[in-house]
Amino acid sequence: MEIRFPSDFLWGAATASYQIEGGWNEDGRSPSIWDTFSHVPGNVYQNHTGDIAADHYHRWQEDVSLMKELGLPCYRFSFAWPRIIPGGIGSVNPKGLDFYDRLVDELLSFGIKPFPTLYHWDLPQALEDKGGWPERKTAQYFADYAATLVEHFSDRIENWITINEPWVVSMLGYHEGVFAPGVKNQQAAAAATHHLLLGHGLAVQAMRAVARQPLQIGITLNLSHVEAATDSPTDLEAVHQRDAHLNRIFLDPLYFGKYPTEVIQEQAFVFPEGYEKDFPTITTPTDFLGINNYFRDVVRHSTNDHHFKYEIFQPKGSTYSEMWEMHAESLFNLLMRIKQDYPVKAIYITENGTSVTDGIDADNRVRDSRRIQYLQDYIAATHKAIQHGVPVKGYFLWSLMDNYEWNKGYSRRFGIIFIDYENGQRRIIKDSAHWYSKTIQNNGFQIKTYYAEPF
Ligand code: FCB
Repeated sequence: MEIRFPSDFLWGAATASYQIEGGWNEDGRSPSIWDTFSHVPGNVYQNHTGDIAADHYHRWQEDVSLMKELGLPCYRFSFAWPRIIPGGIGSVNPKGLDFYDRLVDELLSFGIKPFPTLYHWDLPQALEDKGGWPERKTAQYFADYAATLVEHFSDRIENWITINEPWVVSMLGYHEGVFAPGVKNQQAAAAATHHLLLGHGLAVQAMRAVARQPLQIGITLNLSHVEAATDSPTDLEAVHQRDAHLNRIFLDPLYFGKYPTEVIQEQAFVFPEGYEKDFPTITTPTDFLGINNYFRDVVRHSTNDHHFKYEIFQPKGSTYSEMWEMHAESLFNLLMRIKQDYPVKAIYITENGTSVTDGIDADNRVRDSRRIQYLQDYIAATHKAIQHGVPVKGYFLWSLMDNYEWNKGYSRRFGIIFIDYENGQRRIIKDSAHWYSKTIQNNGFQIKTYYAEPF
């Protein structure tokens, strides 16, 4: 079967500042919460840090030329707040702006559209010291930072993402404590959730006020289709609870100006006093929704936790990569559901991809056929959703290059470009990158089998 995308479909690849840049203490960059967190022994796999990462801070030119070689039309990267405003608030660091000026101008000179994210988790430590996202003022500081960047770059950049995966920031950062800043406090997570949403709304308004051209602005959420282990009423209720906790907790405030009652009543999230007054700001209209999706969640009823009456489990016969289940149909289901339940004008898949740690063969090739299989299936699911009327306008593969996978360190490889960390950080174009390049060129593909074994 042959698949073709609409002629204006946008193809891209994504990265994030802390995961690729390195140069962690150069040119006036201040520490972020991820520097602090990764430098504490025991927080990250083998105590890996992002100090050097893929050394993109020094190799950006080579990286942009690789994008050009692959024919990448669009590049999603993130600005590092601690490079731009090292104190979190106050003075702007000209050298921070310079770095991104050079990057953006180089991209544009090759006809590659920059699609930046303002916040991909590297909060300046100075702001965490003042209370971080559980503190209301952080929302305003974020809007000020957003306005600074838009003032500077909006003559050249049209598309902007405010925040990447606020769920991960609040739930993994402030509730489970497995990501920076490593806090384990549900009420801190509730406050962080609210202030991330408020920060997003304030930022959208501040960005539009200073923009030099009409901008396309959106937020990126990590969403998953949730399925029940069985059709027993308790498992179906488990789906409902998980969906409220993972998906609706951000979607409902953004689109309907309310939190799901489940998270307040059953799950005991206590939002900051007077939170309802912020909904007019939180619902400030945006131009698109960014969706990051990698896997589905299969859940069943459980009483292990007092507030969360469900557990996620691995169904028999399911196909797992090194981190998550591969289940392309669930992306189709998710997209159909979003179209049905929320008034979204446009959707970008802002991240999708998989970790397979295939290494370099003797002939210097990386034969990551499992990744090609995964990408083909998920991109085909996206195509099917478009045919069913879901307004998906573009797809960004995670990730352009191997990088620092948060608390898993360098043990996971999501890139279509291999980074040889041990050998001078050389870059090797993987088979999947060639496949993606062809896909972009043809605006589609012929469906094939690349990997028939269980993953
Ligand atoms: C997402 C993150 C991204 C990357 C992928 C694998 O949750 O946004 O930075 O780590 O997962």
